[in-house]
Amino acid sequence: MNFEAVLAGLPDAVIAVDSDLRIIFWNSAAEVLTERSARRAEGRYIKEVFSPDASVVRRLGETLATGESRSEAESVIERADGRRVPVSIITAPLCGRDGQVEAAVVVLRDLSRIHQLEAEVRRGETLAAAGRMAVGLAHEVRNPLGAIRGAVQLLGREIGPDSRLREYTDVLLTEVDRVNRIIEMLLDLARPIQLRAVPLNLHQLLERVTLLNEEGARERGVTMIRRYDPSLPPILGDEDRLLQVFHNLVRNALDAMGRGGRLTLSTRVSLNPLFGKMDLGAGQRSMVEAQVTDEGTGIPAGVRARIFDPFFTTKDKGLGLGLSICHRILEEHRGAIQVESAEGRGTSVTCFLPLAK
Ligand SMILES: Nc1ncnc2c1ncn2[C@@H]1O[C@H](COP(=O)(O)OP(=O)(O)OP(=O)(O)O)[C@@H](O)[C@H]1O
Ligand SMILES: [Mg+2]
Repeated sequence: MNFEAVLAGLPDAVIAVDSDLRIIFWNSAAEVLTERSARRAEGRYIKEVFSPDASVVRRLGETLATGESRSEAESVIERADGRRVPVSIITAPLCGRDGQVEAAVVVLRDLSRIHQLEAEVRRGETLAAAGRMAVGLAHEVRNPLGAIRGAVQLLGREIGPDSRLREYTDVLLTEVDRVNRIIEMLLDLARPIQLRAVPLNLHQLLERVTLLNEEGARERGVTMIRRYDPSLPPILGDEDRLLQVFHNLVRNALDAMGRGGRLTLSTRVSLNPLFGKMDLGAGQRSMVEAQVTDEGTGIPAGVRARIFDPFFTTKDKGLGLGLSICHRILEEHRGAIQVESAEGRGTSVTCFLPLAK
């Protein structure tokens, strides 16, 4: 049995140190997790690779000193570029023939994917709860609103088309209609959507979205760029709903680019380890990625966690429903939506959608 090969093949990072806390083994998963090669790590002190007060260093020290295993369900390690990765830590002593602790080994498991999935589930639950509340509220508001609309119409007729007061009744009608539209959108979020999923050409769909937004892009000095994978197979989706998704995403991108820039629409068959394949009920199906990338303001870190919340907006005229609706629609497609953003540089929103076959 070649144990080195077994360790190399493990998805978890395995690192061993000698009794001086000098690194003697560093498997491939450790290379991936830390973005540091075994060649550059082995032979160095672990506190040179991680900071001296890092949990992993402390836990290995304790294991060497006591001969006992240590574990931490939730900790972090810092990569060379300062990025922090959530990990779980388990250490164990390695003893020689005489029973003395000669070395220690630590297993680090990358938790970022699990965290991402948890966030996804939580987001779904928040939206569902908000949706249920919205249905109750909408029913309560719609009836009195209907009565107001009727009364205002009567009033308008009564005062005649030439009255100065007509201006006021017009405002009332417009505003009542606006509230009604908001309620409709909210109900949209809450109702189970009846998807009419058929095989679709994603590029034709994106072209329609581009056409709808051509004027808006020109006004802002934004150049639309297409990076389509020409061999992309048809996807399985509801045309109207997906138009709504990409229209919302393109509008958000344009809103973020007040001073021009490039808006890129790209497509490809997904190789993403998390969302690249999904189970649609009858086995695994490959997914397609459709990405809307802008060079706009980016999303500040403090705001990022809330952008999918219904009614969260940073815009004067925004409703804050765009992204929650997108999320809802992609969920119905058994797809996913992922946002990456760098403040001051731009944002990239990726939609994962199933292939037709
Ligand atoms: N491409 C983007 N660049 C920068 N910020 C964005 C981008 N997309 C979304 N956001 C942020 O997320 C918030 C929520 O977006 P969402 O589309 O849900 O609502 P909205 O655009 O504010 O209003 P609505 O879409 O209902 O008109 C926005 O107000 C904005 O702060
Ligand atoms: Mg929006």
